[in-house]
Amino acid sequence: MILLNLDKTSKLPLFVQIFQQLKKLIEENTLEPGFRMPSTRTLAEKHGVNRSTVYKAYEELWALGYLESRPGSYSIVRKRQKIAAGEPKSPKGLIPWESKSSEPCQLLHQAYSQLKYSFPRNLGSSVINLASLDLDARLFPVDDFRRCINTVLIEQGGALLKYGECEGYRPLREYIAARLRIHGITVNFDEILITNGSQNGIELILKLLTVPGSSVAVEAPTYSHVLPMMKYFQTNLIDIPMKKDGMDLDHLRQVLETQKPAFVYTMPNFHNPTGITTDQAHREKLLSLCETYRVPILEDAFEEEMKYFGKVPLPIKSMDRQRLVLYLGTFSKILFPGIRIGWIAAEKESIERLTALKRFSDLSTNTLLQAALNEFCRQGYYELHVKRMHREYRKRMTAAITALREHLSGFAKVSWTEPAGGYLIWLQLRDIRQDEPALQKLFLEHGAAMAPGQYFYAHYPASHSSEQPHYLHFRISISTLNEKEIKEGIARLGKALSQVYR
Ligand SMILES: Cc1ncc(COP(=O)(O)O)c(C=O)c1O
Repeated sequence: MILLNLDKTSKLPLFVQIFQQLKKLIEENTLEPGFRMPSTRTLAEKHGVNRSTVYKAYEELWALGYLESRPGSYSIVRKRQKIAAGEPKSPKGLIPWESKSSEPCQLLHQAYSQLKYSFPRNLGSSVINLASLDLDARLFPVDDFRRCINTVLIEQGGALLKYGECEGYRPLREYIAARLRIHGITVNFDEILITNGSQNGIELILKLLTVPGSSVAVEAPTYSHVLPMMKYFQTNLIDIPMKKDGMDLDHLRQVLETQKPAFVYTMPNFHNPTGITTDQAHREKLLSLCETYRVPILEDAFEEEMKYFGKVPLPIKSMDRQRLVLYLGTFSKILFPGIRIGWIAAEKESIERLTALKRFSDLSTNTLLQAALNEFCRQGYYELHVKRMHREYRKRMTAAITALREHLSGFAKVSWTEPAGGYLIWLQLRDIRQDEPALQKLFLEHGAAMAPGQYFYAHYPASHSSEQPHYLHFRISISTLNEKEIKEGIARLGKALSQVYR
């Protein structure tokens, strides 16, 4: 007979005590595999506990594979594999994941591993982070958003927790279509696909338009996360150098003519990383070139809403009569990046195909959050928030530019872009002997971090290399910092640079 030691005064529930003691007896082999357990009634009577208490303990043992039970029969002790948790972990498992993983994944993994060294992460609180392009959570309208989540859950209940439509929550698509009119874009709701952030949008567009070996024309430098993605899709990147007024269109013309890229990827507003905004003439010329060569444009409008210094030309999409522009929008750089909601606005036929691609990868974007966001926008909170962001970042960017002029204009070989909005400034350091990692270390020692320029290039220009040091770039982002932090961060850069240009 099994004898258990139960303490009825203990805070540990009786069924847990029974479970733990039986488990121990089985693991020690006191109860061997094949042993017929007493019935729940017998064990309960023996120990003066309720039968359901023993039943619950048996259920736990069964769930963990210690008992085998057949309907209407006794439970039998099972021979089971040991549970992995808690055992000392061997340094390597059985599967060699590197060689087992697909070749595209290996390329992707390598590309991200190489980037890791250069992007400052896990900075202590004493370092001012001018590298991150996250948002400042201190400005998040959390209470308003919470009310919107509650409202939609109360009003629509379980419907929002079912599988949602792959194209996205229709009222939100309608809202976005209406909002785009402010930016000069006329599209119907069915020309909009909601995505998990614009990152998901870029991936879908790569799937839509490329096969291994296709080429894609990108600005050099460009948004860093598209570079590993292109490696994964085994596309050839064609660099189109950025000039002061945007990508070099003469170079692009040659590329369009000779290499027929699958698409051209561009960020006309507050370009990441340079902060450059192209003018109307540049946008018209780019569009007309792509029309001539019948090449789609991926217009990444990640900071479209951050036009806080006033007029910026309308998006290329607003002039897109031939419907070759795939316009990528996101709530990440104006509201919350964490809700992962972005969209693609494009001709319906392409949206239908992109929807098919999205369906097989993730079925849909989170419906509850889309509905809450729609409520947030419809209640007018979004407009209010955009205005607040404009007021705030007009002050913050002005503070950044003023601080740069104050602390860095003494260095003749240092220059920077002065953006028309957004969060980014591109710093250029000329005639420099140190390489990027050395400089990054120096900046960190002075308590400031920036994103190194190399991070944004597929092919790093020779003029940046350590063999032939000529000039280097760093990206300054003010997106997570307030005025005081920005001023202090830039003052620290000034101090660090005074050691470089002595
Ligand atoms: C230029 C650009 N495009 C797209 C993204 C992706 O943004 P999300 O997926 O959060 O919308 C980012 C993020 O930093 C970005 O800088």
